[in-house]
Amino acid sequence: MRKGHLMHANAATPKSSVRDRFLADHRRIEGIVERLIAAFEADDREDIAAIWTELDTGVLTHFEKEEKYLFPVLQQTSPRDVRALLQEHRHLRNRLMELAAGIDLHIVRLQVARDFIEELGAHTRNEDRLLYSMFATVSEITQPEKAEPQAP
Ligand SMILES: [Fe+2]
Ligand SMILES: [Fe+2]
Repeated sequence: MRKGHLMHANAATPKSSVRDRFLADHRRIEGIVERLIAAFEADDREDIAAIWTELDTGVLTHFEKEEKYLFPVLQQTSPRDVRALLQEHRHLRNRLMELAAGIDLHIVRLQVARDFIEELGAHTRNEDRLLYSMFATVSEITQPEKAEPQAP
């Protein structure tokens, strides 16, 4: 075990690892959304309720992580975008609360869920675009190629 090796790996890619983590989380949430739509289409109320809870928790936790770890980084170069994203978070949190009540009462219809999913998807695409553009620039400058540390 070489100390220098680990230190180098930790110092080399803080920004691209932030990007990859959030991009992966976006794909994970999209997977939950796909299962939710399938449950709606099958009209399986138990599945709808269970997957909705998973989506609700997943999105809220994701938003918290973004506000704590991602937005402060984006703030340095794109403060206007961060303001817009925070507004979208506020709106989507309100929608989640409104819809949760309906899901409990079994009155949320597929179309209403689809509208929310559309809004969530648009928000995620806005973030994806920012993540790709800003961290691409950073990694091109600091890491011309993503070389693994050479073993001796
Ligand atoms: Fe977000
Ligand atoms: Fe996000």
